[in-house]
Formats: sequence, structure tokens, C-alpha cells
Amino acid sequence: MNKFYLTTAIDYVNGKPHIGHAYEKILCDVICRHFSQRIDDVYFLTGTDEHGIKIQKTADSREITPQQLCDENSSSFQQTWADLGIEYSDFIRTTQERHKKTVQKIFKKLVENGDIYKHSYKGLYCSGCESFLNARDLTADGLCPDHLKKPEEVFEENYFFKLTKYKDAIIKHIKDNPKFLQPDFKVNEVIKQLENIEDISVSRNKNSVSWGIPVPDDEEQVIYVWIDALSNYITALGYDTENPSDKFKKYWPANVQVIGKDILKFHAIYWSAILMSLGVELPQSICAHGWITIDETKMSKSLGNVIAPADILKAFELQEPDALRYYMVTSASFGRDGNYSDEDFKEKVNADLANNIGNLLNRSLNMLVKYFDGEIKSEFISNDDCILNAGNEAIINVQKLFDGYQIAEAANVIVEFANTVNKYVADNAPWTLAKEGKMKECGIVLYNVLEAMRKIAVMLYPYCPNISGKIFKQLSLEKSIKYSQIEQNKLQAGKITEKEKISPVFPRMDSEFATDKKKVK
Ligand code: ME8
Ligand code: MG
Repeated sequence: MNKFYLTTAIDYVNGKPHIGHAYEKILCDVICRHFSQRIDDVYFLTGTDEHGIKIQKTADSREITPQQLCDENSSSFQQTWADLGIEYSDFIRTTQERHKKTVQKIFKKLVENGDIYKHSYKGLYCSGCESFLNARDLTADGLCPDHLKKPEEVFEENYFFKLTKYKDAIIKHIKDNPKFLQPDFKVNEVIKQLENIEDISVSRNKNSVSWGIPVPDDEEQVIYVWIDALSNYITALGYDTENPSDKFKKYWPANVQVIGKDILKFHAIYWSAILMSLGVELPQSICAHGWITIDETKMSKSLGNVIAPADILKAFELQEPDALRYYMVTSASFGRDGNYSDEDFKEKVNADLANNIGNLLNRSLNMLVKYFDGEIKSEFISNDDCILNAGNEAIINVQKLFDGYQIAEAANVIVEFANTVNKYVADNAPWTLAKEGKMKECGIVLYNVLEAMRKIAVMLYPYCPNISGKIFKQLSLEKSIKYSQIEQNKLQAGKITEKEKISPVFPRMDSEFATDKKKVK
């Protein structure tokens, strides 16, 4: 692998970012940071989805223009990602010229290929999904099962895309490429949807939806927002139907496209068909993550339980996002639903980050100061096999798990390794060795622990980039996170610390009032 291209879903800007949006972007940032430790060329795309009836209606209700709404909320998304330490390579907004002009070319190409036809249609449209729904998929009360809203009856003449033409090819692709759809337990769901697939409307009449990209050569119609939105994954790279850019040639196909489980159909089926029609390769894999609930309840405006990531950081008085990043991505296995609760958040990060990892570093540095004036003597540099092997094994396992996007499981490997090191300290009791005057033995134990801490800092980096940086600093090491250099950058003999330099890299969280503070807002 010489490049790694990852995309996220692009968020609708009809509201502000919440913890569910944040979950996905943190997950993706963690994956990209990990792969940047293994290969040089990692490209991370995210952005905002800015057209469609939902955004038009929200703007109308606030008596501002759709563009004003988009500008305001797209900025909030970008600010939130900065607050959470999300380091993307590019941020695409679907109202940007670079995107709009290419989407029109893509539409034209689909027409040229004979995949588009005009058709009068009567259907039920859910603005929450930005999609027509089948009557058979509605609840007993005739509501959209995801948004619990009554879909609108639409009768229009629209452009249709021959999705059915690609049905067999998509089924074959899924069956021939076991990694294409992940996690595996999603495959049957998609195959079932494919079996009932019909051609889809890919434009709307301007009288009902005006906020969209115009259909080329037809004043009356705008391009369906999902065709517009899905195209971002290639328009951002400078795809062009005639002259694709070097960037496109370099990064496409994406290594992984991460999305939420609610929009798998659009990606696995619609997006695959569009790419097939364009003659463009399919992404290597589409990974659907689960949903985050709040205190085991679905987040919704009507319940008033929507939480913004910034509110959590503020309520717990956290200066950096590491704890929240760590908690979010370890809250569930990839593909499964996760849950946020204040209590659980506090417990998990106190246990794993403060008590286990943070405390281990703090205790061992303090002992190094107490017994050796902060110096690692050259006679201490002798590996204890149990720690060396456990560390090397953890390094291999973390990478293996990331290859399968098992982010929560990889974090467990790091915590388990820290447990092993903690047990090593307890078993070898360096304080007793010092009391008995066995100074060399005591020094060897401390060296092994601190060398293990360095490895933990490398493995922990994607989840907690700030804490990882602090660990390097407390060990007086240059930050060095590449896996290929992990052997070269071992701790060397010399004075590495003194009393004043030691402070907890991650203090325990004990804000008792976090929940109340969030509610005040
Ligand atoms: O679907 N937990 O945008 P969106 C976890 N614009 N993930 C959640 C979530 C939750 N509670 N709520 C939302 C769209 N998400 C389209 C995407 S892509 C070409 C166009 C996830 O703002 C959701 O699953 O409704 C999706 O992946 C992303 O946030 C954006 O959702
Ligand atoms: Mg949604």
C-alpha cells in the first residue's frame, strides 16, 4: 500500500454538529492518523452536504437564504472538527464551484451513456432522508421509520436513472469482493435491497426544490441531492469526465469510505451504479458504522437530548479533546451501536487513561527521580523479555486490528499492554529493590517500564495525539510516531527528567456537575 484515501459522509448543514456526527469524524481521524504512522501518503476527505429541500426549508423558516444557512453551519462543522483535533486533507462543500461544475458533467455523461430517461412519477418523499420511500417500508401509521415524519406526496415529471441495469453487476461485485462491504453482517441487508431495486428519480422540478445544481440543458429541473452529494468523493480530487486530474489518478479508488449505517443503501447501491456508468473503479471498501445514542435513547430535537461535542468538553473542563476522542471510538465495535453517558465517559477515561496509562508513567518517573536523580544509567538498559515481547506483540496486533478497522479492539490491546506493565511493576516492586540496595535491578525495571511507555505513546497517538505528545515530552524524547522507526528510537542513557518536570499527562476527571452544566445550555 503506497497511499491511503479515506472519505467520510458529508454532513447536512440544516443543523449544528452533534455527537453522532463527531463519532464518525473522530473514527476517521483515528484511522487516518494510524495509517499515517505506516505510510507517507494519507489523504483524508470530509465536508458538508449543502443542497436539497431540507436545507431550503430550514433556511425559509429562519428567513435567511439557503447560502447563508450553509455558510453559518458549514463553519460550525469546521470549528467543531478543529476543536476535536480532526486533521483532514480537504474539506469539500457541495456549494463550491469546483463541485457543481463537475456534478453537471457527471450528469451529462450519464445521459450520454443512455442511463437517464424522463418519466412521470408519483411517490412519497421524506425530506429527512432526502429520498422517495416505498409504501411497504413505512410504519403502520404511514411514517418514515427513520425520521418518524409523514412523507410528502409528490407527482412530477423527473429524470430517472437506470439503476436496474446495474443490479446484477453490483451483486456480482459484492460477492466477488468480500471486503467491499464491511462489516460482513451488512451484506445480506444490501443484497435484499438490491433484489427489490427500481430505477430512481435523479432530478426534482424547480417548483418544488430550487436549492440544487441545475440539470444541464434543462431550466426546469435540479439534480437530485444524493447524486450531487455522492459525487463529492471524486469531485474533490478533481475528477473530470474527460480529463481527470493527477490527484484523482493518484488517490482513486478510495481505500475506505466510512459512513453511517442509515445511508449504506445510497453508497453500496446508488454510488456503485453511478461509478459503473461512468466507467470509474469502485472504492475498495465501504464501511458502515453504528449509531450513537444518548443514555441509551435516540438523539432527537423533539426529545431535547442532542449534545454538541463542545458542550461535553466545556462541562468537563477539558482543555483538549483526547479523552472524548478515546471514549467515542472505544464505545462500540465498528458497525455496532454505541452510547454516550457522562458517567460512563468519566469512568472509562479515568480507568484507561488516568489510572492505568497516566499513573504508570507518573509513578515510574517519580521513582527515577527519587532513586537516580532522573537519570537512566547505561547499565539499566537491558530488556526484560516479558515486557519486550508483550510490547512487540501489542505493536503487531494494533496494526492488524487497524487493517480490519477494529479501532475499539486495538485500543484494548494498548490498555492490556499497560496492564501487563503495571503488573510487572507490582511483581518486581522497584521500591523494595531500592530499599534492599539492589540499585541496578531497580533501574532495569524502571527502564523497561519507561521504554514500554514510549511504545504506548506511539500506539496511543491516533486516539490521543496530545497525550501521546506529552508522554514523549516527559520522557525527553522527540515525538516519533512512525512504526518503521520504533526500533531505532529507543530510550537512551542519560538524565531524562527532574521533579519539577513531572506532571500527570492525563489528570482524573471528576466534574460532578457535568450533566447539570450541559443542561443549563
Ligand atoms: O446523511 N450516531 O448527512 P447527515 C452516529 N448528507 N452517526 C450518526 C448519527 C448518530 N446518532 N447521526 C448521524 C447525510 N450520523 C448525508 C450524507 S454522504 C455523500 C451524504 C452520521 O448529516 C450519519 O450516519 O444526516 C452519516 O454518516 C453522517 O452522520 C452525516 O449524517
Ligand atoms: Mg441523517
